[in-house]
Amino acid sequence: MCGIVGYIGPKEAVGVLMDGLKRLEYRGYDSSGIAVLENGKVTLRRAVGKLEKLQAVLLKNPLQGRSGIGHTRWATHGRPSEENAHPHIEGGVAVVHNGIIENYLALKEELKKEGAHFKSETDTEVISHLIHREIKNGKKLAEAVRRAVSRLKGTYALAVISEDEPDKLVGARMECPLAVGVGEHETMLSSDITAILNITRKAIFLQDGELVVITPDGVEITTFDGAKVTRPATHIDWSPVMAEKSGFRHFMLKEIFEQPRVVADTFRGSVIEEKGDVFLNNFNMRAADIDKIVIVACGTSWHAGLVGKFLFEELAKIPVEVDLASEFRYRDPLVDKKTLVLAISQSGETADTLAAVKEAKKKGASVISVCNVIESSLTRETAWSFMTHAGPEIGVASTKAFTTQLVALYLIAVRLGRESGRVSPEFGKTLIHDLVTLSKKIEHILDSAGRIEALAKKYFHFRDFIYLGRGINYPIALEGALKLKEVSYIHAEGYAAGEMKHGPIALIDEDMPVVVLAPQDASYPKMLGNMEEVRARGGRIIAVVTEGDKEAVLKADDVITIPAASHRLTPLLLTVPLQFLAYYIAVLKGTDVDQPRNLAKSVTVE
Ligand code: AGP
Repeated sequence: MCGIVGYIGPKEAVGVLMDGLKRLEYRGYDSSGIAVLENGKVTLRRAVGKLEKLQAVLLKNPLQGRSGIGHTRWATHGRPSEENAHPHIEGGVAVVHNGIIENYLALKEELKKEGAHFKSETDTEVISHLIHREIKNGKKLAEAVRRAVSRLKGTYALAVISEDEPDKLVGARMECPLAVGVGEHETMLSSDITAILNITRKAIFLQDGELVVITPDGVEITTFDGAKVTRPATHIDWSPVMAEKSGFRHFMLKEIFEQPRVVADTFRGSVIEEKGDVFLNNFNMRAADIDKIVIVACGTSWHAGLVGKFLFEELAKIPVEVDLASEFRYRDPLVDKKTLVLAISQSGETADTLAAVKEAKKKGASVISVCNVIESSLTRETAWSFMTHAGPEIGVASTKAFTTQLVALYLIAVRLGRESGRVSPEFGKTLIHDLVTLSKKIEHILDSAGRIEALAKKYFHFRDFIYLGRGINYPIALEGALKLKEVSYIHAEGYAAGEMKHGPIALIDEDMPVVVLAPQDASYPKMLGNMEEVRARGGRIIAVVTEGDKEAVLKADDVITIPAASHRLTPLLLTVPLQFLAYYIAVLKGTDVDQPRNLAKSVTVE
């Protein structure tokens, strides 16, 4: 998944493009490049590696010009190299692309037969050749792009500039996000809104099959077959600062500390404390119409879905299946019009999740979503979306998006429970009270950051970890392990504690730290037993327990405490210390915490 950006206006394009790419770098960082129209010539600068490499190239060989395009790459076709870096240029036409062109090899052969010479291994390069061929045949840039994309099969968000028409940029979208930033006498294109915030907070979101021509004072959108599209700009309530580190060493740490506020922002406006109820705007699902809920998601969002199962089944008494989107979409799933499919995605652009939604809709299911990015593909594909208010999540490892997803699922479960009468007004008041007191409890956990950093020093050299949890906390064992894996590159597994005796206990020795989630809840006595099993085999235990615990603490080598809370919200609290543990271990390991190797923030490829 890559990031693309374009600018046209009175400013030097290089500065605007580089600022935009900095904000898009979390989408992919194998290589980067920009092309600027300098004295009428499309001029290119590219570099392998992170954006700072391109910055160094530009310092040595600066560019000047008032319009240009930029790209930061997560390699799909062709290894990270300068010749594979975007933009790709052919005959004065420069292209940057996010997505995958599935028929590029056939197109490449066709173009080669006409004498085209290719310089890269990428799929994208065929696009620059197709557009150039149309321009050679006398087409204007917009028409050349329109005819070129009509040959493409696959997914793409494009930004294109040409020496022949230096006063405009052209963009096109098919299943990869593309936003237009509408400034004062300056206009941008971008994969997502964080990159336009320094220029404007007015954005127009392209939809699939749309092409846009932008000039400093104009935006013209048409469908691929030429029909004019009129769409008002959306005001973005994210400020540029929200997408900055604000003094934190890493975005991940900043986003961990933002959780008390964004959790409150997410439930504020929905909770009706005096009625013990939840207001969800335009939500008209009724429990009686739903035979089962199927939750589809990937990665951390899938872990949120596993917690959601417990909430929906307890509060709304609706059976729930939780499926990996990448599995659901290929299984010929048993869903129908009495199935409510709930897709969870921070970015709203995860290809597998979008494909699962399309599959569910094809089978007649009602599909809703929980998402963090307004106007993302997922919000447009589903009948109703609950928008979390986590703000831009720049760190590749999801933290605040996860905890706000849990809040969203809790709110929907309470609403369905109240609507069906399975949750009484009195019980509803308890549930709402538990939620509105949560932010304070998270703040309390944030105070233990220093202690957890000290723990990280004791454990960062180990090469394998196992995380154990039961019931509604088992998904948090999975999530804690994923956090450690993805930011520190240390192998970690999340396991249902009851499964230990069925095999994994063979792994336990003094070289395998075990993180045990043992809050005061129904499974606590069983967790004490699991801790004994681990200790008897020389395993080291880091226990996460409820403040005031008197028993588990005696069985652990190290202890992290969380405030007492309802079992329905303990998973959210347990997550925060595990985020800190993964973060501080990663910092000690010296990995690239915000942009871990091989990863991207939103996986828009399958
Ligand atoms: C989480 O830390 C990971 N970065 C990853 O698992 C992520 O949750 C997954 O790719 C799903 O992304 P989405 O929520 O944007 O769909």
